Amino acid sequence: MRLDKLLANKAFGSRKEVHQLIKSGRVSINGVQATKKDQSISIDVDEVMVDGVRVSMQQMYYVKLHKPAGYVTAVEDKIHPVVMDLLPPEYIKMGVFPVGRLDKDTEGLLLLTNDGVWGHSIINGHKSVPKVYELNYEGILSKEGLARIKEGILLGDGTQCKPATIELLEPGKAKIIIEEGKYHQVKRMISAAGGTVTYLKRLSIGTITLKDIETISTFIPLTEEEIGAFKK
Ligand code: URA
Repeated sequence: MRLDKLLANKAFGSRKEVHQLIKSGRVSINGVQATKKDQSISIDVDEVMVDGVRVSMQQMYYVKLHKPAGYVTAVEDKIHPVVMDLLPPEYIKMGVFPVGRLDKDTEGLLLLTNDGVWGHSIINGHKSVPKVYELNYEGILSKEGLARIKEGILLGDGTQCKPATIELLEPGKAKIIIEEGKYHQVKRMISAAGGTVTYLKRLSIGTITLKDIETISTFIPLTEEEIGAFKK
């Protein structure tokens, strides 16, 4: 990869700004000051530094983020803040995108990657991946409504959901496990059963949980094991 492309990908500025950076002698390759913007860099071998700080050569990104309410699950939005605002700028440059979506007012576990095959295998994969949500609701979830959620509830627009697991935790609070990701699915399931969701949080996707990102807006890389679980 060309030196200027690497530095632009890693969010050191536009191509022009990166050329300036190299020209001003602030970039080194294996300890030697870089002079050529088109110098070829080997990702696996070379050590590139800017102002003495090592540039990460990471090319593939897999992270879990504790999404706060108020952020749109998108790379860009003209009006609202987006989840990518919570990650370093290099993530956008490297093509990282959210895997599936949480509504703007939903918080909790969101996966992001720049591995399209991996991301799409989670969204469209044939394997069913259980997603656990915690919710607060208003209204009454009748015995009959709960039974319909468990059997596979029919939504107002005629969409048929697969059977789900629901557990009432205390008045107005429930935990639900679904294996699909239809538009506003949990809210629409609860609504079809007589309630209105007032708070929604995703706790897990398969074996990936909010462990180590309990604080809202924090993120960490996924482990090899977590990544591998969706590659099988
Ligand atoms: N179901 C919803 O209704 N909203 C979400 O954000 C996720 C699941």
